[in-house]
Amino acid sequence: MQLKWLLGLFIAFSANADTDHELSLREKYASSPENWPSVVTTDNRKVPELAPLPPLVDPPTAELVALGDKLFHDTILSKDNTVSCASCHEARLVFTDLRKQAVGISQQVGKRNTPTIVGIDLWESFFWDGRAKTAQQQALMPIVDPKEMNATILGALTRLRESDDYLAEFKQVFPGEGITAQTLSKAIVAFERTIKPPQSRFMTFIEQAYQTPKSAVDILSVQELLGLHLFRTKARCMTCHNGPLMSDNQFHVTGFHYYQRKYHDGGRFDITGRSADSGAFRTPSLWAVSKTGPWFHNGIMSSLSGIIGQYNAGGPRPKPKEHQLDDPNFPKTTDLLVKLELTKEEREALEAFLKML
Ligand code: HEC
Ligand code: HEC
Repeated sequence: MQLKWLLGLFIAFSANADTDHELSLREKYASSPENWPSVVTTDNRKVPELAPLPPLVDPPTAELVALGDKLFHDTILSKDNTVSCASCHEARLVFTDLRKQAVGISQQVGKRNTPTIVGIDLWESFFWDGRAKTAQQQALMPIVDPKEMNATILGALTRLRESDDYLAEFKQVFPGEGITAQTLSKAIVAFERTIKPPQSRFMTFIEQAYQTPKSAVDILSVQELLGLHLFRTKARCMTCHNGPLMSDNQFHVTGFHYYQRKYHDGGRFDITGRSADSGAFRTPSLWAVSKTGPWFHNGIMSSLSGIIGQYNAGGPRPKPKEHQLDDPNFPKTTDLLVKLELTKEEREALEAFLKML
């Protein structure tokens, strides 16, 4: 009898403690982001706070955007007129394709997952391995990629110049320049710059957090609020996923490289040749992440809870085989990933947060 009573008291007490904790968390996040609890990063690096994507500086004209939009959706850029940029970057799928790896001309399967297109002006490099330095450089690369559009730039320009419509439109938008590699890529990029992730609940929250923080926090459920807090603190996610892009623009070895196995991908190493870059990939943005799966550079991850599970364990750390022991290029998973010891409740909260992005 007495034991039962004691137990009852204990339960009442811990339930109370829980509500208190939630209350104080809600109070903490009911202020402007400058006053939120400090971000926790694995190596104490200072990182930019989560923030809305900034408005475009020097936005392109509507005419230029319309031309870029048309080109982005036109199969004319591909060798046999079957593939457009939008074949893989579908607007209704947040500019991805739901596939593990992209499928291009003649149903060829590439080695990488199609990323969404977001925050074009904020990236310091493009592609999972950063091999394109600018968006304009990037825009011409799928045209010549043998597994994507398999054309030549000259071939694509020639086909465009054979179209009276395009001749007239380019003349209108680029007087005196006409149809060149430069104007073609400029138009495509102008369109890409205007692409915005869907207005998610997180977007609404983060926009309001900088303006009316007191009411903004009410947008978050108890679970999402905990998820946001964990993302910024205990789970260390902001070590790499930070600022308005939710990416640090850097390359990291997260351990999914399949070194010297069937799905081997050298990542950043294939561009720089530096051992430290072996198996490194650029931190992706997390805007609309629940809609851009399957995830990772090769589409290997098919659930957000699975991803959180991997991070919770400190990331995969494949060990070198006997014959790879002296290989300086054997990828070493970054020390920025550490065991997190998140409880089941915390992992679920983190997932709820990712789902509102
Ligand atoms: C066959 C499918 C396919 C086609 C066609 C395609 N893409 Fe992509 N796109 C991808 C894949 C896969 C990646 C990632 C490749 C990599 O990182 O190596 C990518 C990456 C990108 C990126 C980089 C995003 C970032 O965050 O770095 C942009 C921008 C982009 N594509 C725009 C375009 C444009 C513009 C076209 C048309 C000219 C196009 N894509 C055609 C599949 C495709
Ligand atoms: C050390 C830097 C780093 C940290 C810390 C980190 N990430 Fe990542 N994240 C990356 C990189 C790099 C990738 C891409 C890896 C790849 O494709 O092989 C990625 C991929 C992802 C993806 C897949 C996105 C996509 O479009 O494919 C999700 C989701 C994700 N991270 C969530 C998280 C969460 C949640 C945390 C905190 C628990 C976290 N990340 C911590 C660097 C990091």
